[in-house]
Amino acid sequence: MGATSDQEWGHVPVMVEEVLLYLAPRSGGLYIDATVGLGGHTQAILSRSAPDGRVLAIDADAQALAIAERRLSDDGGRVTFVQGRHRDLERIAVAQGFSGCQGILLDLGVSSLQLDDAERGFSFREAGPLDMRMDSEAPVSAEEVVNHWPEQELARVIAAYGEERYARRVAHRIVQARPIRDTAHLAAVVSGAVRSSGGIHPATRTFQAIRIAVNDELGSLEAVMPQALALLAPGGVMAVIAFHSLEDRIVKQFMVRESRGCLCPPRIPVCECGHRVQLDRLTRRPVQASTGEIGRNPRSRSALLRAARKLDEEQMVAAEREYQTRAHHAR
Ligand SMILES: C[S@@+](CC[C@H](N)C(=O)[O-])C[C@H]1O[C@@H](n2cnc3c(N)ncnc32)[C@H](O)[C@@H]1O
Repeated sequence: MGATSDQEWGHVPVMVEEVLLYLAPRSGGLYIDATVGLGGHTQAILSRSAPDGRVLAIDADAQALAIAERRLSDDGGRVTFVQGRHRDLERIAVAQGFSGCQGILLDLGVSSLQLDDAERGFSFREAGPLDMRMDSEAPVSAEEVVNHWPEQELARVIAAYGEERYARRVAHRIVQARPIRDTAHLAAVVSGAVRSSGGIHPATRTFQAIRIAVNDELGSLEAVMPQALALLAPGGVMAVIAFHSLEDRIVKQFMVRESRGCLCPPRIPVCECGHRVQLDRLTRRPVQASTGEIGRNPRSRSALLRAARKLDEEQMVAAEREYQTRAHHAR
């Protein structure tokens, strides 16, 4: 395996030890890293699952994937790289023989590679094209959102995905200033409309919102969670690192729902939905990075890790019985 350090590669993976604790990689296991980025977590999973654990490493970003591939290429064929999107996870994994796997990791959001390269258009600190696509072949870029979406839709996105209280004013200023030329121009327009608070750059929330819209990040997360569950073998673990409350809410709601049995309203005496308990939540609250890690890697400050284990048939029946008893007493 390449001896290059994470620092040298520019992206320091977050909460590696915590991820390893939940995934507990072992020799012979099959693992999917659905957000390989520069390969930090993949590398850790590979070394813990030596000598013959295998990893399917997926990313939408061809550039990141090429770097991860160079970095991990001499690992004896234990890692398979595929460029693809989360929406297609199940299809990709089945095609690569990774159904029934022992662990799946999703480390969401952007990588430092994407943030630090002005040409990718994610950064408000330098002038770059209005892009923000994780997959450079994707049809919608930030240019489309910023220069062509109706003001109302822009305001909705900035409010919902950026949680920006001045969203309507920001959207109005953007529309007035069209055409917006590049990321520096956009940052200047947004900064003129927002009072900065909490020591963050005034354009932070708007850039986050536009990035989420461009990549349909929340829709994609909703689509990938059930696919990840379907791909796990009984006893397999899914671990998800979210970087803001909107993502974390989706992860939490999915894990809570799948750790419940019948979802019928209480007035229905016999279950009609057929929903079964499938997951055991390993984290009730999201796990956060240690103070030491935050000191070393400030990006880890907003990371929220949740993990859940897929039950086997026997555990499902037992969990179902327990769930029914509790529901019966609650009626
Ligand atoms: C935070 S980085 C992952 C960093 C990685 N764990 C490491 O150790 O280097 C997130 C990665 O997920 C990818 N990504 C985000 N959304 C995706 C999606 N819907 N489909 C595929 N890849 C996605 C991004 O391109 C980015 O490279």
